[in-house]
Amino acid sequence: MVKELKKNQELKRIKVYINGFDEQLQGGVPEGYVTLICGTAGTMKTSIAFNVLYNEALDGKTGLYVSLEQSAKSLLEHAEKMGYDLSKINLVVMSDIAKLKATIQDIKSAKGGSLVISDLGAIRKQIKETKIGPSGDWLNVIKNIIKKLKAEAKCDLFVLDSLSALYVLSSFDDPRTKLFYIFEFLRDAELTTFLISEMPLDKSRYSEYEVEDYLADGIILLQHTERFRKVIREISIVKMRSTDCNTDVFTLEYKNKKFYALQGGKPPLV
Ligand SMILES: Nc1ncnc2c1ncn2[C@@H]1O[C@H](COP(=O)(O)OP(=O)(O)OP(=O)(O)O)[C@@H](O)[C@H]1O
Ligand SMILES: [Mg+2]
Repeated sequence: MVKELKKNQELKRIKVYINGFDEQLQGGVPEGYVTLICGTAGTMKTSIAFNVLYNEALDGKTGLYVSLEQSAKSLLEHAEKMGYDLSKINLVVMSDIAKLKATIQDIKSAKGGSLVISDLGAIRKQIKETKIGPSGDWLNVIKNIIKKLKAEAKCDLFVLDSLSALYVLSSFDDPRTKLFYIFEFLRDAELTTFLISEMPLDKSRYSEYEVEDYLADGIILLQHTERFRKVIREISIVKMRSTDCNTDVFTLEYKNKKFYALQGGKPPLV
């Protein structure tokens, strides 16, 4: 029997937790969708993704943040500087995949949600090699972590920081096919996913192979824009499936521990 299609209004949405921006997305990103967060260096890609997982953990959800380059220590130092109260959430740092069992236990014993940071960067340093195992396939390592968390504890959201780092660590001989299966895996796992994509400086493309743009359900673009020698941060939605979204460019500000999307210095009119 053909599954009845859900009406747009019935789609559950996950907030991006940016004041003035969720409203432009009918309330947020549809649950279970895969969204690219694209931007050049320092455009706050990591912060935006971390912000979602932190706030969702406060709301009882469990998110997995896989950081392939930035260490968990550096990530958490940045979060503390930004003013996040990490004591408010169940924060689990998994710096070694051998500690997966302990991580699962930690998630299960938490009353609410958890934020799990899988610091593969630390393992990389430890083994002093760029590739893991004979096949060098870090992708399978990540998939196994997700499968285990889903089967033995829970996992509602997933962030991969970054796709670009994954391409260096895994063999991507046939990127089109491989990426198709990655996106399928994430959708089958019913994870609301944010894939961070490091854009080239000339902003000529959103992702490395460009096929990611078409496979993704949504694209959020972060930019630095120079105006009269002043550089401002900007955020916009390039696409979001099943969403009546506003594709205008908003100024992105971080004030009083909150992100704001502004238009002409003011909250945008909905
Ligand atoms: N309150 C704050 N505390 C610390 N950093 C802040 C704050 N507000 C803005 N920032 C800026 O956040 C930027 C880093 O953010 P983030 O690491 O999320 O960016 P990114 O796009 O992930 O960077 P990268 O390309 O290095 O991965 C820094 O350039 C820093 O200036
Ligand atoms: Mg980053």
